[in-house]
Amino acid sequence: MRRLFVTAGLLFACGTEEAAGPTPLVPETLSLEPVAWSASPWSTPVTFVHETETGIALCTSESLAFLAGSVLAGHATEAKGCTGGARVPASDGAVQWDLVTAQGGVWRVASDGTVEAVAARYGLESKNVTDVVSIDANQFAFQYQDGFAVVTKGEVKLFAQAGLTSIAGANGKFAYLTKDTARVLDTKTNALVAFTVSDAKGVAFDAKGRLIVTALGTLYRESGGALVALLEAQATLGAPRASGGKVWIASGAELLLLEDDRVLKTSGLALDAAAVIYGSSSGDVWLSRPSGVTRLRHGATGNALEQKWQADVQPIYGKVCSACHGPTGSAKIDLSSYNSWVSRKAALNDRIVVKADMPPAGVALSADDRGKLAEFIAAMP
Ligand code: HEC
Repeated sequence: MRRLFVTAGLLFACGTEEAAGPTPLVPETLSLEPVAWSASPWSTPVTFVHETETGIALCTSESLAFLAGSVLAGHATEAKGCTGGARVPASDGAVQWDLVTAQGGVWRVASDGTVEAVAARYGLESKNVTDVVSIDANQFAFQYQDGFAVVTKGEVKLFAQAGLTSIAGANGKFAYLTKDTARVLDTKTNALVAFTVSDAKGVAFDAKGRLIVTALGTLYRESGGALVALLEAQATLGAPRASGGKVWIASGAELLLLEDDRVLKTSGLALDAAAVIYGSSSGDVWLSRPSGVTRLRHGATGNALEQKWQADVQPIYGKVCSACHGPTGSAKIDLSSYNSWVSRKAALNDRIVVKADMPPAGVALSADDRGKLAEFIAAMP
C-alpha cells in the first residue's frame, strides 16, 4: 500500500513513504438509470453543466443554453463554452448567486437564464478565470490562469500560484492542485496541508470533507493526514467529480462511484475517449459524449427498465447487433449491456427510429423487432 507523506502547515511537500492503511476497496457492480431532464433528446456535447436554483445551464461551443422545467428557455451566447459553475453566497450573504466561468470571464446566471458579466465585482476583470467552487455558506473561490481568489463575505484575496490545474471546495476546506502537489487549506484554522502525488488528474471532497485525488490508475483518499490508495484501477482515471456527497470518476471506458467506503463500477458502459462527466447537486452524474448528453443515477439493481431491456432488447441485440456491437466489435461501439444503452438515448433514437439506418444495409431487422427497440428507446427518459 502506498502512503504519501504529508507536511502540515508548510507550503512545500515531501516525498512518499510506505505504511499500512485500510484495505483497498473492491468495486461492486454499478447499474445506472437514466434521469429525465430534457423534454427532447439533447444531441450536442457540452463543455459544462451547472444546475441553478431554477433550471439547468448547459454550455455548448455556441452558447449557454438554459432549461427551465426540462424545456429550453433561452440561449446566452456571451457565456458559451463555460468551464465551471457553482452556487455561491452573494456579497450580502443573504442570497445565493449562480456563477459560471466562460470566455475567461465570470457570469451570473439569473433565474430566467439570462447572464450578466460580474468579474469586475471581484476585481478579476483582467484575469483569465476558468473555474469557480463553493467552500461554505460564506466563502467561495475562483481559479484563474496564474492563481486563485478566495472570496469571504464579499472580501476578495488573490493568491499567485503557477501551474494550477484544478480546485475544489466543501465544508470550509479549499483544495488546489498543481501537477505533483495537492494542497488543502482549512479556512477555519488557516492550516495548509500539502500532499505529494505524481501526475494528479484532479481533486474533490467527499461527504465527510476528505480530499479525493486521482492520478493515473490510482484513486487516493485523505486518511489520518496522508493520502492512501483506495483503488488501483486497471485503467486511466479521470478527474474526480463531487456530486451530492458522492464522487464520480471515469475509469477508462467505465464509470466509478465512490460512496463513503463503497466503490461501484459499471460494466459495458463503453465510454469513448471524448466522453466527459460532470457532477450534480443531486448526486447524479452528467455524461457528455459526441452524440449528446445524458443524466444518470445509481439505480436500484433490477429496475423495471433493466428488466425490459433483458426481456425485449437483449434477444434482438444478440440476433442482429452483436456481430458488430460487441465489447470488441468492429463498430467500436459496445451495445452489449443495459448500461451501454441507457447512456445513449439520443444516438439510438437517431439511428433506429429517426434515420432507421441501423443495422446497415444488408443486415435484416424485422419491423416487429424495430418496433420493440423503438418502444424501449422511448421508455428511456
Ligand atoms: C454490420 C455491422 C453493424 C450492425 C449489424 C449494426 N451496426 Fe450499428 N454501427 C455500425 C458501425 C460501423 C457504426 C459506426 C459508424 C456509424 O455511425 O455509422 C455503427 C453505429 C451505430 C450507432 C451510433 C452510435 C453513436 O454513438 O453515434 C448506433 C446507435 C447503432 N449503431 C445501433 C445499432 C443497433 C441497435 C444495431 C442492431 C439493431 C446495430 N447498430 C447493428 C455497424 C453495425
